[in-house]
Amino acid sequence: MCGIVGYTGFREAYPIVLKGLKRLEYRGYDSAGVALINDDGLNIFKKKGKVAELEEYAYTKNMQSQLCIGHTRWATHGEPSDRNAHPHLSHSGEIAMLHNGIIENYAQLKSELLKKGYSFKSDTDTEVLLNFIDDIKKENACTLEQAVSIALKRIVGAYCILLIHKDDPETIIAARKGSPLVIGIGKGEHFLASDASPIIEYTKEVVYVNDYEIAIVRPNELILKNLGNEVQTPFVQKLDMELAAIEKGGYDHFMLKEIFEQPQTIEDCLRGRLDAVGGSIILSGISNYSKEILQANRILIVACGTSWHAGLVAEYIIEELCRIPVEVEYASEFRYRNPIVHKGDVIIAISQSGETADTLVALENAKEKGAIILGIVNVVGSSIARLSHAGAYTHAGHEIGVASTKAFTGQLAVLMMLALKLGYENGTIAADRYQLLCNDLASVPEKVAQILKLDDAIKKIALKYADARDFLYLGRGYNFPIALEGALKLKEISYIHAEGYPAAEMKHGPIALVDENLPVVFVATKDSFHEKVVSNMQEIKARKGQIIAIITEGDTVSPTLSDDVIILPAIDEIIAPILNVIPLQLLSYHIGIAKGLDVDKPRNLAKSVTVE
Ligand code: G6P
Repeated sequence: MCGIVGYTGFREAYPIVLKGLKRLEYRGYDSAGVALINDDGLNIFKKKGKVAELEEYAYTKNMQSQLCIGHTRWATHGEPSDRNAHPHLSHSGEIAMLHNGIIENYAQLKSELLKKGYSFKSDTDTEVLLNFIDDIKKENACTLEQAVSIALKRIVGAYCILLIHKDDPETIIAARKGSPLVIGIGKGEHFLASDASPIIEYTKEVVYVNDYEIAIVRPNELILKNLGNEVQTPFVQKLDMELAAIEKGGYDHFMLKEIFEQPQTIEDCLRGRLDAVGGSIILSGISNYSKEILQANRILIVACGTSWHAGLVAEYIIEELCRIPVEVEYASEFRYRNPIVHKGDVIIAISQSGETADTLVALENAKEKGAIILGIVNVVGSSIARLSHAGAYTHAGHEIGVASTKAFTGQLAVLMMLALKLGYENGTIAADRYQLLCNDLASVPEKVAQILKLDDAIKKIALKYADARDFLYLGRGYNFPIALEGALKLKEISYIHAEGYPAAEMKHGPIALVDENLPVVFVATKDSFHEKVVSNMQEIKARKGQIIAIITEGDTVSPTLSDDVIILPAIDEIIAPILNVIPLQLLSYHIGIAKGLDVDKPRNLAKSVTVE
């Protein structure tokens, strides 16, 4: 949710910041802007729209500077416009600031500033905070860093802010609470960004700034302080990431690249953990907590979006294999409804980014109440990963496409290993079933590769239905969350209205939508409910709906009821969700492309939602 980049050093700063903003566009693309200092003084250049618009606008301007801060926005306060784009300039014209997050008490601060004669050029909460800092600086005749520190003590909300002052062309002041900030350490230069992708081609040494810390960043100096003005020792980490991971590698879109990476990313996720031949599963980040999990009265899963769908699959699987009750909660609901959390309760947090604000705050609240937090997270070193007592990374690599694909299958792979391991230790899975499931899980990368060969066939189906106004996705049992995920993917990428529903529940409402124009996608692979799903297909067929069925090889009945079928290799029903989602990802991708849409950056969405 908003991407930020900063540079101070010996190189030309604007091209570095611009490139960084392009890499962070997945975080928002409502507007883009930069602030820099050169012979023309402190100047801001900003434009509504994607980073490319800013690039074009700034083409003829004097962008030379060794210091630059930049922002790509996902609008919260104020419509997307040039005026509301970041960075903002303070009332005094001396300070430029950009911000990722939301200042919740901005209205109170704004009325105080209005009374003092301040006026505002934008509708943003950011400009309020900036002028608040400007005012403190003037009133206390203090440094910018001191003014920031005083101001932040009164701020309610989430922020990552970068500031520069017209009289100091070397220094960036940065601070964070709730929104991520990583600082890359070079020789005679520093890089600041919302994640490491703008940094890796210059340095692999990074510091993740913690909440309530202020960074004073100069070419040869990085000082970290807490809000009490005490100097903190930066914890320097080595990035385990390659540049190739954030490039398209010959694919037209990141989404397609990431869909096609899944045989490898799932393999990476299973490697060193699942030994199917030896019948063992090692999740070293969790093993110390096996006892607590198995003794828990219930497990709570907290997540948002696609990660919430992975949580629903986990609910079905953990209850089946471990016989422990599981509840799955939307983080945004969980955090505000005064949930009952006891000391020792186990909460599994699922998040690709590890930065989703609602999930993060929900976990902080639960942790304060004594819950044990297990994080299933993709981004190494992210806030949720650091907050968790234990956990397992999904190892899906950098996911750039805004609609999550490979991170989802990585989450499923981890959750399946977790359920299998706990069920086996709990004695709630028979040894032969455990072995069979381990074997099937190990076969997933190869079977995903087989499914990806259906890409052309799926593209043809996509073209046939691309003009539909609505879609219905139906599944039962383990495939119900996959129906939800298929519908979400289509909405995100193609802007077609789509609903996921339990196949049988469809009779209680959505069936009224069915006519000859409604495509209905059945996730109907062979499982314990298969005959029931076939009956649901009959019900749709009888009402002339068009059926696209995801089925298992050898199924001879479903094709007779379907207009189109996508045939997948056989696998146990518990492992099947990880395969069944693949054709749905491809279907959405091809429909989005057929409609001429930007599938990597769908309108209004952002990949990392760091505001609530
Ligand atoms: C956004 C993204 C989704 C993602 C959700 C949760 O809405 O567009 O793809 O599933 O946030 O994000 P997380 O990083 O916590 O998994």
